[in-house]
Parts: sequence; C-alpha cells; structure tokens
Amino acid sequence: MGAEVVVEGLTKSFGRQTIWRDVTLTLPPGEVSVMLGPSGTGKSVFLKSIIGLLKPERGRCEINGVDIVTCSEHKLYEIRKLFGVLFQDGALFGSMNLYDNVAFPLREHTRKSEADIRKIVLEKLDMTGLAGAEKKLPGEISGGMRKRAGLARALVLDPEIILVDEPDSGLDPVRTSYISQLLIDLNTQIDATILIVSHNINLARTVPDNIGMLFRRELVMFGPREVLLTSEEPVVKQFLNGSRIGPIGMSEEKDEATMAAEQAQIEAGHHDGSTDDVRGVVPQIQPTPGLGERSGVRRRLDRVMRILYTLPRAAQQGIIDSLTDEEKARYGVKGTLRPSPTPRPREWQPDSGDLSVAELPTTTWHNSPPGGGA
Ligand SMILES: Nc1ncnc2c1ncn2[C@@H]1O[C@H](COP(=O)(O)OP(=O)(O)O)[C@@H](O)[C@H]1O
Ligand SMILES: [Mg+2]
Repeated sequence: MGAEVVVEGLTKSFGRQTIWRDVTLTLPPGEVSVMLGPSGTGKSVFLKSIIGLLKPERGRCEINGVDIVTCSEHKLYEIRKLFGVLFQDGALFGSMNLYDNVAFPLREHTRKSEADIRKIVLEKLDMTGLAGAEKKLPGEISGGMRKRAGLARALVLDPEIILVDEPDSGLDPVRTSYISQLLIDLNTQIDATILIVSHNINLARTVPDNIGMLFRRELVMFGPREVLLTSEEPVVKQFLNGSRIGPIGMSEEKDEATMAAEQAQIEAGHHDGSTDDVRGVVPQIQPTPGLGERSGVRRRLDRVMRILYTLPRAAQQGIIDSLTDEEKARYGVKGTLRPSPTPRPREWQPDSGDLSVAELPTTTWHNSPPGGGA
C-alpha cells in the first residue's frame, strides 16, 4: 500500500507573493486524489512542494514520519525515492529513445545489472501500453504516448506515491480518457498513493477518490469526491460548470459589484456559455476487467463511512446512493437520509445525523471524525 502524505498548515510564497497559505490535507494511502484549481493558483507549486523541490515557509508535509519541509538533505534524498513524478511536459530526454529514457532512473539510482534493468523497463512499457515502442524517440511519438512514457519512467523505482501534473494537457478528450483509465489501472496494480493536478472537469469527476480545490491562495476544500461534486460553494459550482458567472474572473478574481451585475444578467435570461449543470456524483472509472479490484476503494469506503455524518448532506446522500445493498447492510445504513430540519444553507452546516459532532473544520475532511473517535 502506498504511503500517506500529511500536509498541515503549508504556506508558500515567492518574495512578497503568497501562492497559497495554510493548506491542510491528507492524501490517504493508496487512494487517488485530484487537486483542481484555475490556472495560476499554484497547483504545480503544490506538487513541487510535496516532493521538496520547493521549500514552503511554514507548515509540515509528513511522509513516513519524516517532515520533508524541515528534514536534512540526506533524509529528503531518501524520501524522494518513494516518489514517481510525471511533470507537465513529460520531461523526457529528447535525444534518448524511450527505452533509455525509462531506464534512466534505474541506471542513475540503482546498481542493477542491464539484464535486470531490461526486465523492469519492458514491464513498465508494457503496463503503460508502449510495448514495441522502445526504439522511438520522444519527438517521433504523439503527446499521449509521451505522457505514457513519462508515466513508465515514473514507475521504474516502484513508487509509493505518484504525482502527476496535468496528465491531460495537450491531449484530446479521447486520449485524456485513455490516460484516466491508465491511472486507475496503475493504482489497481500497484496500490500507490496518487495525486493528480488538473483543471480537467471530466477527469476530476470520474477518476479520483478525493478532490480538492485551490482558489484565492487557499485550499477551498479537500475531501471525498462526493463532497466537491455536490458542493454549493460558488467557486466550486462555477468551476465544475465552466461558467463565467461566479468568483473566478478572466485573469483574476472578481469584485462583488461585477458579480452582482452578472447575476442580474443571468436572471434576465442571458446565456453565459457554460455547460449545463454537471454537478452531482457520477460513477467512477473502474479498473480494466481482469485487473481485479482496487484495494483503495474498499479502504476508502471504510474511511468515508466513519466520517459520513460529518459530511454535507448532499455528499452523504451521494455516498449512500452509490452503495450496493450488501454494503448498506454491512454499514447499517438506510436508503435515504432523514429530511433536513432546516433549509439547506449556502455554506453547509454539519448535519450530525446519528452521531454528535463537536467542532468541525470548515472545509476539509480528514481520515477520521474531528476530535478522534470513530
Ligand atoms: N520558481 C518560481 N519563482 C517565482 N514564482 C513562481 C515560481 N514557480 C511558480 N511561480 C508563480 O506561482 C504561481 C502559481 O504557479 P503554478 O503553480 O504554475 O500554477 P498552476 O500550476 O496552478 O497553473 C504563478 O503566479 C507563478 O508565476
Ligand atoms: Mg501547473
């Protein structure tokens, strides 16, 4: 099972420009998470901070008990070996064929024989659908193949954590679906913890177990997929629907007056070019038949059912709707929630259901109910 990544109060600036502050979340071991956010919100910076390529000023990022923000260079070097990273541009060496590109980390970081290296490289190329393409140069293949080659290279050191920056960038929707399926299949096969950074709504709806969103230099929310997909938070709604109406502006955020004027236009029937409302919980991509089940799915369900009644009501319903009869019996839940006593507020209030919940964080959901017990 992959390693857990615990991020607490992380803050990153460049000079006087704060990129994001006080980011707190946990990437559950062996689960797939997506970090969404408009361009320029610091998603790539976040990814680089998690592997220690960039140093946040404040906060912790703990992996296997080591805080990579404050640990020694030597420790950081050791921890980095747990990671496989696919950078946005694939970062392949243009003058090396795919075989040598994928073999590179093994030749660099291990003392394996060329025979052993060959076995591993061919296996990873096969896993990523590139069998037979060993001799190709990066310049001779499509963008989708380059992404897959980058993934194959990220896999050779048997990573416990895989970070993927915009796997869909430059790809058409069909190639993006192939990459999405591949990421789920890889998770099924190696049970690594995966964090994908993206602004692709379709990928976010169908791939991850957990979704987070960065906006206005903060983590707006992070939690089980059902939370974000049913969220009433204006910025999340706007983003999922690709709408011009909402807090996200052309290049930066908007002021209140602009938002009010736009709302008036919409109410007067003006179309804003967005898709229809695509929010709601849609089925998640399943592993390719024959690969078996994802262990992360079962672990996540146990985890989410423990915190179910701390989640917003719509998310609770989304989770319950996705349960099989057998799962409903196992967790002792009925088909629908009790009717809400109060109208649903704009910002959700914790609906404690059958559990009593004391203080809740505003927008992040952790692996256990706040305050401990489960
Ligand atoms: N090494 C750096 N030095 C200074 N500023 C940087 C550096 N890397 C990123 N930035 C700034 O951080 C902000 C967020 O960038 P980035 O993480 O690439 O956004 P995203 O990936 O969400 O599109 C941008 O304003 C960018 O200019
Ligand atoms: Mg980026």
